[in-house]
Amino acid sequence: MSHPTRRILVTSALPYANGPIHIGHLVEYIQTDIWVRFQKLRGHECHYVCADDAHGTPIMLRAEQDNVTPEQLIERVWREHRADFADFLIEFDNYHSTHSPECRHYAELIYRRLDKGGYVSRRVITQAYDPEKQMFLPDRFIKGECPRCGALDQYGDSCENCGATYAPTDLKNPRSVVSGATPILKESLHFFFKLADFEALLKDWIASGPIQPQMVNKLDEWFTAGLQEWDISRDAPYWGFEIPDAPGKYFYVWLDAPIGYMASFQHYCDRVGLKFEDFWNPESDAEVYHFIGKDIAYFHILFWPAELTGAGFRKPTAVHCHGFLTVDGQKMSKSRGTFIKARTYLNHLRPEYLRYYFASKLSDGIDDLDLNFEDFAQRVNSDLVGKLVNIASRCAGFITRRFEGRLADPLAEPALYAEFVAAGASIAQAYEGREFGRAMREIMALADRANQYIDEKKPWALAKQPGAEAEVQAVCGMGLNLFRVLMIYLKPVLPGMAAQVEQFLQIPPLRWADLDAPLLDHVIAEFKPLMQRVEMAQIAAMIEDSKESYPPAEEVAKPSGPLVDDPIGPTVTIEEFAKVDLRVARIVKAEAVTGADKLVRLELDLGGETRQVFAGIKSAYAPNDLQGRLTVMVANLAPRKMRFGVSEGMVLAAGGGGGIYLLAPDAGAEPGMRVK
Ligand code: MSP
Ligand code: ZN
Repeated sequence: MSHPTRRILVTSALPYANGPIHIGHLVEYIQTDIWVRFQKLRGHECHYVCADDAHGTPIMLRAEQDNVTPEQLIERVWREHRADFADFLIEFDNYHSTHSPECRHYAELIYRRLDKGGYVSRRVITQAYDPEKQMFLPDRFIKGECPRCGALDQYGDSCENCGATYAPTDLKNPRSVVSGATPILKESLHFFFKLADFEALLKDWIASGPIQPQMVNKLDEWFTAGLQEWDISRDAPYWGFEIPDAPGKYFYVWLDAPIGYMASFQHYCDRVGLKFEDFWNPESDAEVYHFIGKDIAYFHILFWPAELTGAGFRKPTAVHCHGFLTVDGQKMSKSRGTFIKARTYLNHLRPEYLRYYFASKLSDGIDDLDLNFEDFAQRVNSDLVGKLVNIASRCAGFITRRFEGRLADPLAEPALYAEFVAAGASIAQAYEGREFGRAMREIMALADRANQYIDEKKPWALAKQPGAEAEVQAVCGMGLNLFRVLMIYLKPVLPGMAAQVEQFLQIPPLRWADLDAPLLDHVIAEFKPLMQRVEMAQIAAMIEDSKESYPPAEEVAKPSGPLVDDPIGPTVTIEEFAKVDLRVARIVKAEAVTGADKLVRLELDLGGETRQVFAGIKSAYAPNDLQGRLTVMVANLAPRKMRFGVSEGMVLAAGGGGGIYLLAPDAGAEPGMRVK
């Protein structure tokens, strides 16, 4: 089994730094991580880098909304992303940020080289502008009525009701999502990358085979439509890198995003002493692969190789696209509880279940893949627990109890072992070609074969026969050696379980090359359960946790209308009213809740006791302005578990006619006083 060492650099797309990692993202990071772990297991030099995509308008506005600086926002999200990836056993060699000195360096370098080469043009364009917020508005930040069907509240680029696409200037009654103001048209100088200059080069490159056949068809459409100049500049205020010698002009986020791959790799090189040029020079013989979702193919298959070439760098060896995740056949949905965050999943289920499930469904194509929870539980329980772990648990006890943990020598069935090793060629080929589903099927067929061997030999019956001692040891040793081969094959998918097995078998970290040498006359440790079954109840709890919950106070934020339209309800008795324990409270702390547009988290002092309450009042109050104020709260409301924590009460506010007005006692009232 000889395979000369390759030098490989692998990337996954950079997740945006304004939201959490969810199970849709994980399709990509799990797919890439499996491929990278496979290359490393085979003994190749393989480096896996990624970063947060930390620039752009949505991040700028998000930070503003949360009352933090963009730097604070991206720092916090960077930590969360890293923790989520680590806990899913996604092992980056480096995880960086596009908001980094390395990224600025390469963005400026690439821009300067492109400009010098004559690939950047400049001209004045007219765009929608928010006169109140004083910023140009991306299409997605303008809403209005569809020019075709009249549907309300449609984005500036397309109508979700009738599917029409149009320019934001076509919208009727347009308004800025940022301030609500009516956008005006304004001129400004923009910088463009002349993509069409690279058409012939791109066609040659694509013909050389770096793209999946399904994507090539898509590309033909793009070429037929004609390659347009790409607008790479944005006006201040913008959160990103200023363009050299162009004050007030910034690189568009998608200009520096793929450059983030280089930035992360440079940061890594500086850390471990590799040479950046060895991988990025045009004459480099290293391999460079980008794993991406099909939604961002245009950027990676057209802009990126063109930019690289124009700036004197090598092109990727290949760009691997994958499809999108659906859950139970539908788009992930917050209200159905299928928009599942990585962290929510981890609170309920072991990461390797999902790694295995995705692996079993992934191919080298761009078709969408569906996560069906019954199928998920069934697949994991039957393959991993029922077939794989079963092999070890059926054999281990006899070895420990009767032979002090010692495996037999020689191997009972060398021919069967050789069959298992020989299957590795096809499994490796499947991994290499990202046919993970095929790899999993072939491995599970071997697991069936191993169980069948044990069924035939019946060590439990042999154990009762006098004089069959040696055979029991031989059969169980054989079973455990077959199990070890399967664990080598599955290690890229189940790295955590592989580590448990290495501990159980008392061996150094498994490598592909270890296939040739079975464990003979070797002492193993006691067997401990390797994996629990997935229970449907765990899945139900995870879905429940993923449903957006609304606090009672959020109703206040959506007033039904002015007071006169809001009839007074049925009467209550004084006894009923007395059940409500109203108290004066001081807001000692108020902060925005990440992931909830309307919520503020309040810490309320009730004269000694502190309560946490989530209130839907963010549209009316900046958290900072609330700090220190007195208000009135329902102190004996049953605690409510929400997505963000437990709400222990409710603050009182008047709603109606569009505003929210927090109630407060007159001066002199003290926290804890009863309100009657
Ligand atoms: N920031 C850009 C990528 C810049 S790369 C130079 C971006 N970020 S993202 O957070 O929206 O998506 C990151 C990756 O996750 C993309 O490759 C995207 O296709 C993938 N996915 C996001 N949602 C997904 C699913 N529901 N299913 C599968 N992949 C998904 O795009
Ligand atoms: Zn419409």
